[in-house]
Order: sequence, then C-alpha cells, then structure tokens
Amino acid sequence: MLMQTQNPGEAKAEPKAPADPVSRRRTFAIISHPDAGKTTLTEKLLLFGGAIQLAGEVKAKRNRVSTRSDWMGIEKERGISVVTSVMTFEYGDCVFNLLDTPGHEDFSEDTYRTLTAVDSAVMVIDAAKGIEARTRKLFEVCRLRDIPIVTFVNKLDREARDPFDLLDEIEKTLALDVAPVTWPIGRGRSFAGTYELGSNRVRRLDAADDAGLVAVSGLDDPLFDQLLTEDGEAAGWREEAELAEGGLKAFDLEAFREGHLTPVFFGSALRNFGVRDLIDGLARFAPPPRGQDADKRQVEPTEPRMTGFVFKIQANMDPNHRDRIAFMRVCSGRLNRGMKARLVRTGKPISLSAPQFFFAQDRAIADEAFAGDVVGIPNHGTLRIGDTLTEGEELVFRGVPSFAPEILRRVKLTDAMKAKKLREALQQMGEEGVVQVFLPHDGSQAIVGVVGALQLDVLKERLQAEYGLPVDYDATRFTVCRWISADTEAELDRFIGAHGSSMASDLDGAPVFMATTAFSLRYEEERWEKIRFTDVKDYQKSAG
Ligand code: G4P
Repeated sequence: MLMQTQNPGEAKAEPKAPADPVSRRRTFAIISHPDAGKTTLTEKLLLFGGAIQLAGEVKAKRNRVSTRSDWMGIEKERGISVVTSVMTFEYGDCVFNLLDTPGHEDFSEDTYRTLTAVDSAVMVIDAAKGIEARTRKLFEVCRLRDIPIVTFVNKLDREARDPFDLLDEIEKTLALDVAPVTWPIGRGRSFAGTYELGSNRVRRLDAADDAGLVAVSGLDDPLFDQLLTEDGEAAGWREEAELAEGGLKAFDLEAFREGHLTPVFFGSALRNFGVRDLIDGLARFAPPPRGQDADKRQVEPTEPRMTGFVFKIQANMDPNHRDRIAFMRVCSGRLNRGMKARLVRTGKPISLSAPQFFFAQDRAIADEAFAGDVVGIPNHGTLRIGDTLTEGEELVFRGVPSFAPEILRRVKLTDAMKAKKLREALQQMGEEGVVQVFLPHDGSQAIVGVVGALQLDVLKERLQAEYGLPVDYDATRFTVCRWISADTEAELDRFIGAHGSSMASDLDGAPVFMATTAFSLRYEEERWEKIRFTDVKDYQKSAG
C-alpha cells in the first residue's frame, strides 16, 4: 500500500488496490537549471528503485560510447545532457517512469515534447542559487500543461540561502504557493538532517543511507541541541521551524494537482539525503496517468483498448544495429507484445513485436505496458513524432508541437556525389526532431531550422559519424519562417505562386513561407489577410 497521507482529499487518489496497474504508475520528468543536480538526483532515484547497483552509473553511462553513437561525444565534451531518454523503475507499490529531459536550452523543443508525455515533474533547485533562468522557463512549460510540480531544494550540505528566502522566491517568481514537507536542520557545514513538519520526526544525515526516521517529542526535543552545537544555533532553528510549521501553507492535494501549490523537500542528492522523502512524496502526491486530449474526445487511462502517442524518435542508439526507436506514451488500455496496432496517420497496421522498456543501462522486451508507461518501438522509419497508435479507433492525440525555428541555415555538402544520401539523412534527422528540414521550391539545397545553435553542431556531428557525410552550413538570406494555410486551396496557391523563391515545404509537404526579416514577414501578413501564418505546428494534425 502507498503511505497514509494527511489530507482527506487524497483518499480518492489512492490506488484502488495494489494490483491496479494504472494508479500505480507515476510518469514524471525532472526539470532544473544545468548544474542544480538533476543527474545526481536521477542516479539516486534509480538507486532506490534498484534500477542501478551503484551510484555513479548514470554518469558513467554518459561517458560510455559503446552503446550509443559517437555524436554523444558532444554531450561528453560539454558536460551537458542533450538526449531525452526514459527510465523505468519500481519502488514500493509504484512503477515510476522517469523521462529525462535535455539540460541545455538549445533543446527546449525536445524538452517540450517530453513534457507532453509526463503527469508530474520534480523541480530541482540549487539551495545557493534559487530559481534560475532555465528552471523558470521549464516551469512555464509545465504550467501551460497544468503539470503539478514537486520541489526538491538540493545541495543543503553546502552554503545555502535562507530557506524562507528560497520559498519566498519560488512563490513570487513562479506565482506558486509553497508547502514545505520537510525543513532543513542547519545548512552548509552544520547541515544535520531534516525535520518533517507537523509529524515530530527527524531524518538524520548521519543515519546510514538515508534510512532511519527518529521520533522526537517536539521542537524542544534535546536532539536538536545535539545536532546544532554552535552557540545559539539550536534556539535560532527552533524559532525558524516554529514559524515554518505555523506560518506556512499546509499541503493541499487539490491545489497541488491543479498546479497552484508545490510541496517542497530539502536535501542533498550528492549525500543521498532527502531522496527517500522525495520519492515517497511522489508516490503519495503525484497523480497517476491522466486522461489525454484527442481530436474527437478525451481518452481515459482506464479504458480497455490500447492507445498511445509518439513523442520522441531516436535513431542509431546502437550503431551496430542502426535501429530507430520511437518512444510512445501509452495513454490507455494494455499494450501486449505482439499485438497489432493501427497507425492512424496512414491507416496501416503496425505490429508491436518487440516493444521495449528502458532501465538505467539496459533495455528489456516489454511483454505488457499500461497507461503512463513509455515504451520504445523499434522501426525503420514508419513512426514519426506525433503519431497516434490505437486498436483501430480513428483518433489523434493533440499537443506534440513543433515551433518555428529561430535559426535557418543552408546545408553545404562538401562532396557533391553524396547529394542523395544527404537527402535521406536529413529526412531521418528531421523525422527524429534533431532539426527541422525545409525543401525550397526552387530546388536549391535544403535549409535546416533550429531553435538553438547547438542543434546544428549535433546535426553536423551525426551526419559525419552515422552517414559519413561531411557538411558545413551557409547563411541564407532568410531569418524567419512560418507555416501557412488558408480556407481555400486557391487562396493558398495564389500566395505560393506569388512567392515562389521564398517558399519551401517541410517533411510532411506542408507549405512554409520564409522571410528575410521579421519586418517583411509582417508586411506580407498585412497584405495577405486570407493567409494564416503560424509559428507552431501540431505534428499530429498536420501529419495526416
Ligand atoms: P545537472 O545534471 O543538473 O547538470 O547537475 P549534476 O547532477 O551533474 O550536478 C552538478 C554538480 O553539482 C556536480 O558536481 C555534482 O556532484 C554537484 N552536486 C549535485 N548534488 C549535490 C549536492 O547535493 N551537494 C553538493 N555539494 N554537490 C552536489 P561537479 O563537480 O560539477 O561534477 P562531479 O565532479 O561531481 O562529477
């Protein structure tokens, strides 16, 4: 059974029975600014779940190139995480699916897509730094999607800011109520553990492996004098804790689930401290898989028939096999190995003969999967980002968007004999979402579009490593682009006809207008009232 909760409102959110596969699932991501401790925390969470034996392996994996292609070198060199992946582990009665998000802001599009596949997120904050730029951006994405956030204030073992100050900053900059679940006892060199607010329990830093909770008689318990030995420290802390206990908001499950309030845990990922409280908190508070919006109706996770959507494609994960994995979030029903599903975009059947689960280092065949699970489906280019799979029903999930790129470059091939190969490779990279690819109507070289410059480096390195294609980039006269549409084909054709040299098609064949400046784009928008110019494209709607 999951742990008891303090809030009566939680009763209905508890699993009906331990065996109920849907309510056991917690599908979440960790959002943070680089260096706040996401990798370290991931490692420790997986350790609890038994998914890895020794902490350090997540990082070790980062540095290992044997199972991934060489372009991962970029990640290694720059010490950033650019690949989204998924890790499944069990802890207590819950099955956790942790979706990793790229840390660098150049990959915000990839991150955005990943966040379409989670039900909650853990926000990691460096206790010395508070809310940083990237934390804030990612938080905003979560808010747009009503994703509830659990906060982990990390690095309490180092010099840290005053906890009230940090909470105040969260509340003010994110407009989010805070409800601390634990409270730090000391910080920096005197960090000695956490006190569970309202429950008279202390978790000591010196207890082996973040295990034991010690009962105390209250805030006046002599244990605090033993833990905080400097002059006046214990007295100061008691005042602070009393204020925290009495003056701050109590946890409210409904407000949390609606995204108005965040429970806050304090700890140190490096010292593996506070991580157990966090994971217990996820089990208790974080929502099980939620219903997903599709074009025709909302799909509930408990429906018997399998549905799911693809939010990520990753090719060449194993260079020996040249495989391509589509990551699909199961939205309802039960996915059985060997079943036939319908790929709604094409109407064709697809056989799910070897769906996979991912652990810290391994993959394993998934015999069955339920709503909230993320499975990898090996394929040879059949599946695309945004695809919906069903057991026959004609419906399309919404919400895996593509953003108009902010940087456009023309791909320059140094070996002209390889033009055909380049086209194929770009097609694959585009379908994988590494870059966006636009094919100019005038027949000139493909233009690639990215949200951040680092994506261009990744593309270049992958084209070289995986396809033996040395490429460079040339500037183009275009700086912005928009997908265009109109109510009638004739209106659209008229615009396209008048702008031949500024038109391109994306990989789905959708028309894209490219402008030299934002000013000229605005000018065209004003002149062509019947044409809609959009900077976000919903993969699923347009893929059909
Ligand atoms: P990220 O994925 O969010 O970018 O952060 P990561 O976990 O890689 O952590 C960034 C740095 O912060 C690492 O140090 C890591 O050891 C350290 N760190 C993470 N959690 C804690 C904590 O609770 N306390 C303290 N004191 N440090 C923490 P590094 O020196 O950059 O890397 P490394 O030499 O440890 O590999």
